Amino acid sequence: MFDNLHRWLIIRLALVWFVLSLVIGGLVHYLGNARLDSHVVNMAKAETASYSDEFAAYLRSPSVQALARFNHEIRAIIEKDNLIVVEFYDADSRKITEAIKPSARDVEEKLPKHDAGFSRKDGIVCNKLTLGNDTYLRVFVPIHNSTGAKIGYLEGIYHAPGEIITQIRRQTFWSLVLVVLIIFVTSLALYPLIIGLNRKLLDYSRILALTNIGMLKVLGSAIAKRDSDTNIHNYRVTLYSVRIGEKLGLTPAAMQGLIKGAFLHDVGKIAISDSILLKPGKLTAGEFEIMKTHVSHGVDIIGNYAWLGDAVEVVRCHHERFDGSGYLKGEAGTSIPLNARIFAVADVFDALTSRRPYKEPFGFHEAVGIVRDARGSHFDPAVVDRFLVHAEAFYGEICCEDEAALHGKLEECIGRYFR
Ligand SMILES: [Fe+2]
Repeated sequence: MFDNLHRWLIIRLALVWFVLSLVIGGLVHYLGNARLDSHVVNMAKAETASYSDEFAAYLRSPSVQALARFNHEIRAIIEKDNLIVVEFYDADSRKITEAIKPSARDVEEKLPKHDAGFSRKDGIVCNKLTLGNDTYLRVFVPIHNSTGAKIGYLEGIYHAPGEIITQIRRQTFWSLVLVVLIIFVTSLALYPLIIGLNRKLLDYSRILALTNIGMLKVLGSAIAKRDSDTNIHNYRVTLYSVRIGEKLGLTPAAMQGLIKGAFLHDVGKIAISDSILLKPGKLTAGEFEIMKTHVSHGVDIIGNYAWLGDAVEVVRCHHERFDGSGYLKGEAGTSIPLNARIFAVADVFDALTSRRPYKEPFGFHEAVGIVRDARGSHFDPAVVDRFLVHAEAFYGEICCEDEAALHGKLEECIGRYFR
């Protein structure tokens, strides 16, 4: 179970690591790209601004000489910065002049052309373009006069410097690696923490199981003390039931219900008066009817406690018979739960082979013969057949042991099926 827990935890932590790496890594990648775009846009805007001031000055006093002077200035500037093309338009979108960096004429021809819509916009507009491994930005800057009216605009194509893009991309990559590593280390740190918490949970579960088992013993002993002053019958019927259940291949979960039910099968006798429960002679018909109610009293006593839920079927049906002639409901065949059918064989076989105030114990062969004769009437034939194969071994192990030895065997069973 613990190995399974390790595997379960490793798989889930690996999945969490993978999913978080994808989500947070994707976010880091997105933010890195946004930072790159923002950086490039800001640089492009800054460089374009120097042209817009010059152009605004020309538009305020246009003349042939001013245009020549303006052309001279922009062609000098464009050689030194990252803009490869600058075009200047008046308010009617008529191109007034342009400057193209001689080394970038080929690039300018390959870049897609813009539509006329940009000229109608009032704010600065940037449009990202890529050509091969290079990034370009087309920037539109409206030019306003002193009254705020738009008197022209300029279009610049900015070539983002490769070294800056590489630097930002490298920073984004290492941020990604760092994020993935942090998530991985966090997952590693969580691993022993979760294992430790699970160990504590298992410890608490064991304490809870021991508490429940202690309660089971107390309740079983309480009724045994009233009925016969000894636990030995409860121990024997529980052990016979366990041995039959093992030979029938019951699951550990079913075995738990069988052990609880066998130990508490007569718990309802607590509700039966001493005058009937301890009556030395034969019960009258009326008294027997009252005695039969110990079954429903038993179900009432344990039925509301969830941990004893799987014991109810034995308590409820331990006096039912396979042919339907038993009580309390007269259930028959396989409608009687298997645990109750197993217990019925164990209970009767122990009663036959035990000394009682009113009888001596039957010998093994005589008791086995009685059980065999009740095959199909009182008992489930399949349970009887499996019991008869191993009856001698069960009898040798259980019948003649004292209370302490039986208690030890019962503890061993509880250890195997409950812990
Ligand atoms: Fe009973």
